[in-house]
Amino acid sequence: MRRLLIVSNRLPVTVDKKKQRLQFSKSSGGLATGLDSFYRSYDCRWIGWPGIAKEKLTEADNSKMSDYLSQNQCVPVMLQSSEVDHFYQGFSNKTIWPLFHYFPQIVTYEQISWKYYSNVNRLFRDAILKIYKTGDLIWIHDYHLMLLPELIRDQLPDASIGFFLHIPFPSMELFRLLPWRKELLSGLLGADLIGFHTYEYIRHFLDCTRRLLGLEHIFNRVIHKCRLIHSDVFPMGIEYDRFASVKSDPKIKIEIDEIRKNIGDRKLILSVDRLDYTKGIVQRLEAYDMFLDANPVFREKVAMILVEVPSRSAVDSYQLLKVKTDEMIGRINGKHGTLGWAPILNLYRSLPFHTLAALYAASDVAVITPLRDGMNLVAKEYVAAKHDSEGVLILSELTGAAREMGEAIIVNPNSIDDIAAAIKYALTMDKEEKITRLKKLQLRLRRYDINKWAHDFITKLTHMSEVYDQYKLNNFTDNVYDNIISRYRNSSERLLLLDYDGTLVPFQNKPELAVIDNEITRILLSIQHNGTTIAILSGRDRHFLEQQFRELNVTLFAEHGAWVKYPDSQWHTFTNLRNDWKDDVRPILDLYIDRTPGAFLEEKEYSLAWHYRNADPELASLRVLELKDALFQMLSNRNLAVMDGNKVVEIKNAGIGKGHAAKAILSKRKWDFILAAGDDITDEDLFSVLPSDTYSLKIGLRPSKARFNLKSYQVLRSLLSDLQPRAI
Ligand code: UDP
Ligand code: G6P
Repeated sequence: MRRLLIVSNRLPVTVDKKKQRLQFSKSSGGLATGLDSFYRSYDCRWIGWPGIAKEKLTEADNSKMSDYLSQNQCVPVMLQSSEVDHFYQGFSNKTIWPLFHYFPQIVTYEQISWKYYSNVNRLFRDAILKIYKTGDLIWIHDYHLMLLPELIRDQLPDASIGFFLHIPFPSMELFRLLPWRKELLSGLLGADLIGFHTYEYIRHFLDCTRRLLGLEHIFNRVIHKCRLIHSDVFPMGIEYDRFASVKSDPKIKIEIDEIRKNIGDRKLILSVDRLDYTKGIVQRLEAYDMFLDANPVFREKVAMILVEVPSRSAVDSYQLLKVKTDEMIGRINGKHGTLGWAPILNLYRSLPFHTLAALYAASDVAVITPLRDGMNLVAKEYVAAKHDSEGVLILSELTGAAREMGEAIIVNPNSIDDIAAAIKYALTMDKEEKITRLKKLQLRLRRYDINKWAHDFITKLTHMSEVYDQYKLNNFTDNVYDNIISRYRNSSERLLLLDYDGTLVPFQNKPELAVIDNEITRILLSIQHNGTTIAILSGRDRHFLEQQFRELNVTLFAEHGAWVKYPDSQWHTFTNLRNDWKDDVRPILDLYIDRTPGAFLEEKEYSLAWHYRNADPELASLRVLELKDALFQMLSNRNLAVMDGNKVVEIKNAGIGKGHAAKAILSKRKWDFILAAGDDITDEDLFSVLPSDTYSLKIGLRPSKARFNLKSYQVLRSLLSDLQPRAI
């Protein structure tokens, strides 16, 4: 079993200091409570913040804390109060948390908080690097540490890194509001595996990586910086058996009896959340008020226990919520209550497991109606605790849990009427219906409990290296690199066949900006002076190529080989090429340009290219299908071909291609060293006609007929640079 490093902002143990004494308690929130039992059963270290600022601790405190934490397999990352302010309360909880939960109106965008966020992510990186051993699995959790995967990847390129987001990933419309959106995405993409609670969150995430970073995805996988990153759904479960067996615990049983004694024969409605504006507590109280107004027969017959777990109380929106709910509780109790009955009993504290479990077991209805929630474990725990009794769960449709818990009464948390009606329905539901609903829910929760969830993620993460190997097609090892250089040096008839865009120079949003630079010109010049023949095979028009390579005396194939220019001679083309078809085809391409903002036409002498690199990716993929369909019908009896390139559809004379062009130069001489490089689909044509001992190099990790895949154009550049004659 590989050792597991769990990393999250908050450790499962929170340290506090009261009256000069340290206190240790269990942390609240789904992440810490959910993983608490799992991590203790595993060869695991948990790296995180113990919840107290560095300055508050003396040396003696530090050593006491370290002892306690290390007994609990925890490694602390200490934060100064300024870091707590800006990283935790600031960027994490005033920027990411509200934005990802669809509260854009209260999001703050502060550069200083962002700086702290980046710095604290670096602190976490350093803490991991200190204890990391080869073979460890690193599992990073939640929104506080979204830059961490990439930061670790930069230092440990071969480490297994997983990331799990416990909150929703918002739609592109929300995510794009962040000034640091690209940095966060890129940070996450340092992981091998990124987990979410629901498929909807994955869709949003992949939509953002596509639109903001231009990364296409297939089967939830993207390739970024030459690595494969997989995202998948892992709906977090609970410790099912622990909650299902609450009634057999004598301590809990006493608490259940106590609660029932206090409540009498009233129906008990339970509400449990951290006091957080995402949890919909205000709307829930309004609905309860409406229910009592509309159903006087229930007065004195019901009681609501409202558990509010104190949370992030230094953040102003949380303070305001406390004032608001206190006022509402007072008002509702004042309005409906009697001398012997308060409709709401409010507990503003974190409850220990046995008390919470007793409340679950004792209550008739649980109302859990967040306005947004990544998952919501309380809903699951409540259902599990009803293992051998009855109960009804009212659950918001905007929680991740609702995706798996369709048998609950599902409500829109913004509809006060819906919730009020659901409370009535729940209180009057017959026994049989309650049990049927519960059984179905319980079956699912038992099957996919917290251990299954964690093992599922870890297994997938462990196997990512195998999946990745499949993609590391034709691995370009150091050995191959060295072989190329030594074969090159020992040959005399040397030929280089090089594509232009994406191979010699990187792509730009506008093709005219992808111009040649001094570095590559200098490298090619020195290779050429050393007696090597260089041919450029490109889809570009001849004028552009001539301009780019004016300092070099190389062979140029333009428009995928429609034109050729040998050194010291003129351009020529094949006599049977035609361009009289362009007037017929251009209007169709123009039509699709009008219908696809961002798309544009490139006109060459013997071809037309419809570029969609700058168009909305989703719209473009639809339009490409439509356009090709229209073109195929129109061109069916002409000697023309429709060719897919990198974000471009090109219409050209059939039979013209880089393979055809390459043959012309291959036959000129008996070459004893050939190297060919290209990144595009059109280069496959070239790779397919080369002698078997050619060093054919595909730039990028896509499958190819080339013998080797290179990570990027920079790798080719460094190889070409090493082919230059050595200075004596
Ligand atoms: N919880 C707790 N004591 C309490 C109230 C809640 O330990 O007084 C735990 C509860 O058992 C659950 C977690 O806090 O595991 C809350 O997780 P959830 O996913 O529902 O919400 P989050 O707080 O993560 O937003
Ligand atoms: C949510 C988050 C957790 C967080 C918890 C408690 O569950 O997803 O990452 O730990 O709330 O919040 P806190 O700010 O106290 O850590």
